[in-house]
Amino acid sequence: MQPFLKWAGGKRWLIPKIKNSIPPFKTYFEPFLGSATLFFALEPKSAILSDTNPELIGCYRVIKNHCESMIKILKRLKITKSNYYTIREKFNSGNDPIKKAAYFIYLNKTCWNGLYRVNNLGKFNVPIGTHLQREYKVFDVDHLRAASRLLKRAIIKRCDFEEATKDVKSKDLIYFDPPYITTHLKNGFIKYNSVLFHQSDELRLAKVAEKLAKRGVQVILSNAAHPLIKQQYNGCFYKTEILRPSLIAGDPTKRTKFLELLVTSFPPPIEPIGNSKSPDEAISKDRRYKPFYNPKCRF
Ligand SMILES: C[S@@+](CC[C@H](N)C(=O)[O-])C[C@H]1O[C@@H](n2cnc3c(N)ncnc32)[C@H](O)[C@@H]1O
Repeated sequence: MQPFLKWAGGKRWLIPKIKNSIPPFKTYFEPFLGSATLFFALEPKSAILSDTNPELIGCYRVIKNHCESMIKILKRLKITKSNYYTIREKFNSGNDPIKKAAYFIYLNKTCWNGLYRVNNLGKFNVPIGTHLQREYKVFDVDHLRAASRLLKRAIIKRCDFEEATKDVKSKDLIYFDPPYITTHLKNGFIKYNSVLFHQSDELRLAKVAEKLAKRGVQVILSNAAHPLIKQQYNGCFYKTEILRPSLIAGDPTKRTKFLELLVTSFPPPIEPIGNSKSPDEAISKDRRYKPFYNPKCRF
C-alpha cells in the first residue's frame, strides 16, 4: 500500500526499483521513518519503526491505536486559508495526542509541498500550499484504516537510529534512509531538517550499517551519491547509483534530477541499460543501476 503522508525525501520513486529484489527476512526495521514508504510497500509481518520527530511518531501511534477517534476529528477540518492557520496554531499549542495527530495529517496535506519544518522554538511554521481546491482530499478513510491495521504489526518508537538498531538480529531487514548531509549540492533539502544530520552522524551510521551487515542482517541504505557518502561504504556492500527526480522545489522548473546512492548488503536490482525514456536519462544511462562491488568482503 501507499503511505498516507507526504514527506521530504520520501522514497516512492525507489520502491518499484528495489521491492522485488529484497531477500526474505524476519523483522523489518525502519529507523528513519518519515512517510514509511518501504514499510507500507512491503507490508511486513512484524516491524520496528522509529524516527526522532516526536509529532510524526505521535501521529503513527494514534493511527495505530485510535484511528477512528482521529478520523472523526479529521472529518470536521475544513480547507480554507484562515482555517489552515488556526489549525497550525492549535497544533503548535495543543497537547491532546489524538487531536494533534489529526492536525498533523491535515497540515501535512495542505501545507506547502508537504514540508515539515519548525522554527527555533520547535513550532511548525510552513505556510499553506498553493495547490488546494475546494474538492482537495486531505485523507481517505479506508486508506487510514488499512494503515492502522498494518501499523498494529509494528512497534513504534521515538529514538535516534543507533538506539533503534539495538534489537536487530541476523536475518532481519533494516532500511536506513537518513536526511541528506549538509554539504550535498546545496539542493535545498538540508534547510528543512530541524535537527541537522551532520557528517559525524553519517560516519556513525556507516559504522552501524557495517556492524549489522557483518552480523548477517540484510541492510539497505539510500542517500545522495556524494563522494563523502560513497567512500563510507566498502567491503560488505554493493553500491548502485540511481537517477531520481527531486520533487521538493515549489517551482516545477527548478525540479532537477539527482544521483542517489543505493547501498545494499545483498546483490542489488539491475535494470537493463538502454531502457531510458527521456534524453537526460539517456545521458546518464551508463551510471544508472551500475553496481560497484568491492570484492574484499570481510564476511
Ligand atoms: C529522508 S527522511 C525518511 C523518508 C522515508 N524513507 C520516506 O520514504 O518517507 C529522514 C527521516 O529521518 C529522521 N531523522 C533525522 N535524524 C534522525 C536520527 N538521528 N535518528 C532517527 N531519525 C532521524 C527525520 O525526522 C526524517 O523523518
